[in-house]
Amino acid sequence: MRMGVLTSGGDCPGLNAVIRSVTHRAVADHGDEVIGFRDGWRGLLECDYRKLDLDAVGGILAQGGTILGSSRVRPADLRDGVERAREHVAELGLDAIIPIGGEGTLKAARLLSDAGLPIVGVPKTIDNDISGTDHTFGFDTAVGVATEALDRLKTTAESHQRVLVVEVMGRHTGWIALHSGMAAGAHAIVVPERPFDVDTLAKIVDERFAAGKKFAIVVAAEGAKPQQGSMSFETGGTDVYGHERFAGIARQLTAELERRLDKEARPVILGHVQRGGTPTAYDRVLATRFGWHAVEAAHRGDFGMMTALHGTDITLVPLAEAVETLKTVPGERYAEVDSVL
Ligand code: F6P
Repeated sequence: MRMGVLTSGGDCPGLNAVIRSVTHRAVADHGDEVIGFRDGWRGLLECDYRKLDLDAVGGILAQGGTILGSSRVRPADLRDGVERAREHVAELGLDAIIPIGGEGTLKAARLLSDAGLPIVGVPKTIDNDISGTDHTFGFDTAVGVATEALDRLKTTAESHQRVLVVEVMGRHTGWIALHSGMAAGAHAIVVPERPFDVDTLAKIVDERFAAGKKFAIVVAAEGAKPQQGSMSFETGGTDVYGHERFAGIARQLTAELERRLDKEARPVILGHVQRGGTPTAYDRVLATRFGWHAVEAAHRGDFGMMTALHGTDITLVPLAEAVETLKTVPGERYAEVDSVL
């Protein structure tokens, strides 16, 4: 077989582990040829690729980022590019394409799959918001980074008797906020799924200081929003990819808490540090297993599918099912964590 692999959308720790695993399984075990498209879908649309062999993937298992590069593509450009993608797949003699990506990438994968291209998707995202899989790789690493940061922030917050509002990633879902907040024992967690009441939040912080505690840590997912009318709140419009731009929940919440409580507060934005650097062992294993199973799916002709984790097993789910809705934090998970608003 001849396979093409690509990484698209926001990068995440573990992408290289998938690329390596696909190459090892395909080249070494099946005698396949593998090429890697540069910068995601752009590489496929512009026929920009490199050969991947065992040497090319040597030493990349623990490397963050992606040796193939990544980019976002506007949905309209991809729709216009379906014919070009089909031509390039035919020209290159590809029997399978393995796109590794999050929500946007998998939607694009579905579009190309519906147009008849042989696709097996691999889900990735630090946000953990892809349906049909228990976890995506990158999430464990991001939660680890955020938790370590929260642990560190506690000591400086306490020294200065401050409220720290720590913004973590999570555009539509609060998985990173929930898990890192839970792991670090945050005092309040706000997530996109549940618009929060700022009065309740201010009361929690106030009562904590009144009880003699010297600091408070609030974890805010970047997409969290206050309930309507509960505080003034700036939004940032949308970018060219149709994604909401954020105007800074940590900054706005910090100002609001300082205004309401007589306490010093600071915003801390963790940002892309959550996405960079080496993946955890868990993410390396999950990414490696996804890569292995994607190659096997391609050999069986199981196209239009995505690798998924169910319990401890790797399975395949239809791309159509995976991209239908985002996997938000289920309501019952909030009951397990006192600090979620
Ligand atoms: O989807 C992954 C993610 O890291 C989100 O958590 C975040 O909102 C977004 O990507 C940031 O994207 P960019 O790197 O394009 O600013």
